[in-house]
Amino acid sequence: MIVYRENTLSGEVVNRIRTAVGWSEFSAPQLERALNAAAYNVAAFENGKPVGMARLVGDGIYYLLCDVAVVPDCQGKGIGGELVRRTIAHARQTLADGERCTIALVSAGGKEPFYESLGFSSIPNDRAGHGMQLSVTP
Ligand SMILES: CC(C)(COP(=O)(O)OP(=O)(O)OC[C@H]1O[C@@H](n2cnc3c(N)ncnc32)[C@H](O)[C@@H]1OP(=O)(O)O)[C@@H](O)C(=O)NCCC(=O)NCCS
Repeated sequence: MIVYRENTLSGEVVNRIRTAVGWSEFSAPQLERALNAAAYNVAAFENGKPVGMARLVGDGIYYLLCDVAVVPDCQGKGIGGELVRRTIAHARQTLADGERCTIALVSAGGKEPFYESLGFSSIPNDRAGHGMQLSVTP
């Protein structure tokens, strides 16, 4: 059975799941700062073992959805979709009547259909140009 836990992610779990999907690790101090500053996170556990995560960074008006990952053995079972749906539900439940917010993300190559199945639109579109990013180092 899959159990979802909100706002309990540790840096160690983030790095473990990132490594499982082939992403590089972050340092423990940087992850601690990131987790303390983030708006929300959710992790999926199977038999006590972390198998997926999603993190939401933002200020209540603009959010970035990041670190969406499910370990390879558990992909294709609906876990990634549930993690993203819970993240969207969190953002929605912070809003009062008449308010709105935007959740942006950078899709990994080829994963756009996953996000489109959850309601996200690719950009550019008739309202927005390309998304842009800058990688910053010391
Ligand atoms: C992308 C990822 C998070 C999806 O998680 P998952 O648990 O495998 O996805 P789900 O089983 O919840 O699938 C949800 C929906 O997206 C679809 N989907 C999932 N991966 C897809 C893909 N690569 N291409 C197209 N559609 C995909 C599924 O068919 C499903 O559609 P349905 O609800 O209509 O059946 C997971 O494959 C993963 O961790 N990949 C490696 C890391 C990564 O690239 N993360 C994205 C970073 S932006």
